[in-house]
Amino acid sequence: MTALKMKIAVFASGSGSNFAAIAEACRLGELNAEIVLVITNKPDAYVVERARQANIRVVAFQSAAYKTKDTYEEAILAMLHEAGAEWLVLAGYMRLVGEPLLSAYPSRIVNIHPSLLPSFPGIDAIGQAVAHGVKVTGVTVHLVDEGMDTGMILAQRAVNVVDGDVDKTAEAIHAVEHDLYKETLNSLFSR
Ligand code: GAR
Repeated sequence: MTALKMKIAVFASGSGSNFAAIAEACRLGELNAEIVLVITNKPDAYVVERARQANIRVVAFQSAAYKTKDTYEEAILAMLHEAGAEWLVLAGYMRLVGEPLLSAYPSRIVNIHPSLLPSFPGIDAIGQAVAHGVKVTGVTVHLVDEGMDTGMILAQRAVNVVDGDVDKTAEAIHAVEHDLYKETLNSLFSR
């Protein structure tokens, strides 16, 4: 007998390659989960197109349309509850998560970040690593708390910086991200 699939919502602000990798893993049965909703804060992000192609519901919330960050997150929360989301999976969601989402999903929000945290948190982590001249950087999957890329680390994998080049290193990082996120989510969901 197969265990019930975990219902997840994916949050993304950009291209959505991690979303696509997770969606494919769900489709192939490599991840015992179902993406019930994709949330973006960028209506023009490519992830919107990818979600539509995968036939997965995607909703754009623009924070500028709300009076406060709390009301923005409460609107998202209503949609998450309606969709029955059990875990929030951040995949290139470039906003700090606030109290409404954190208290509704305690220790149930996970993020992927393109560095070996605590090195290079925040935006442009790969650019930061290349600018510092490090030879090895990597990928971290961690639980989300109120800080910027600071929650409990669940998994990390090292990636060599390629030719001191941001684009080539980003390509290597993305390939590792797609595997590491799937593996880490699988172990989280089978606990
Ligand atoms: C990924 O590299 C992810 O680690 C990073 O954004 C990229 C999104 O790529 N996230 C952060 O920097 C979070 N601080 P994608 O849209 O192709 O999945």
